[in-house]
Amino acid sequence: MIKGVIFDLDGVIVHTDEMHYQAWKRIADRIGVEFNREINNRLRGVSRMESLNIILESTHAFSDEDKQRLADEKNAIYRQLLSALTQNDVSGAVLQALNELRSRRVKLAIGSSSKNAGFILAQIELTEYFDAISDGNNISRSKPDPEVFLIAAEYLGLAPAECAVVEDACAGIDAARAGGFYSVGIGDASGYDRADMRIGSIAEVLKIV
Ligand code: G6P
Ligand code: MG
Repeated sequence: MIKGVIFDLDGVIVHTDEMHYQAWKRIADRIGVEFNREINNRLRGVSRMESLNIILESTHAFSDEDKQRLADEKNAIYRQLLSALTQNDVSGAVLQALNELRSRRVKLAIGSSSKNAGFILAQIELTEYFDAISDGNNISRSKPDPEVFLIAAEYLGLAPAECAVVEDACAGIDAARAGGFYSVGIGDASGYDRADMRIGSIAEVLKIV
């Protein structure tokens, strides 16, 4: 029985995945490295530095210091984009689903690899909706490692088997499965056959609680 739902943030609760893309695109164009939406899909759920390593996989021209500078620069551009975010950027379907889950007394958590998760939740005024937040600040391994979801479940006081994980990243579905969670693929992961359930709209999460 599902007693808790752990949501990924970027690309599930709010479309900050587009802002990640815009920020990385600015960096890639400036340094003359190819970057497109297909490559961007591989960055879903992956930490900032691992994302940069994927973007730079065809070149060895950058030292570790260069990479740190590029990652910091990307984050500054990204934070600038995030500062314009408001609750209007959250879809009615997401708000409705969260409200319905709460009224059914289902415990809710965020499980995100992002170090900006707290800032994003404050911008979209959803911090109070979640009983627990596990993010890039409390993990040492990013998805597909299950650490971020295992910590979220622990914060909720639930076993992995009692929680569903809703993810738009294939790496996130792999992480959920590795941790023993019920995995739900949405968006980019809605066609991923390793997900236990694939959904086209967040309202479908209500079917499993
Ligand atoms: C999420 C996103 C990734 C991003 C990662 C780190 O998992 O899906 O695309 O790279 O968070 O985000 P951050 O905000 O810490 O750079
Ligand atoms: Mg995501």
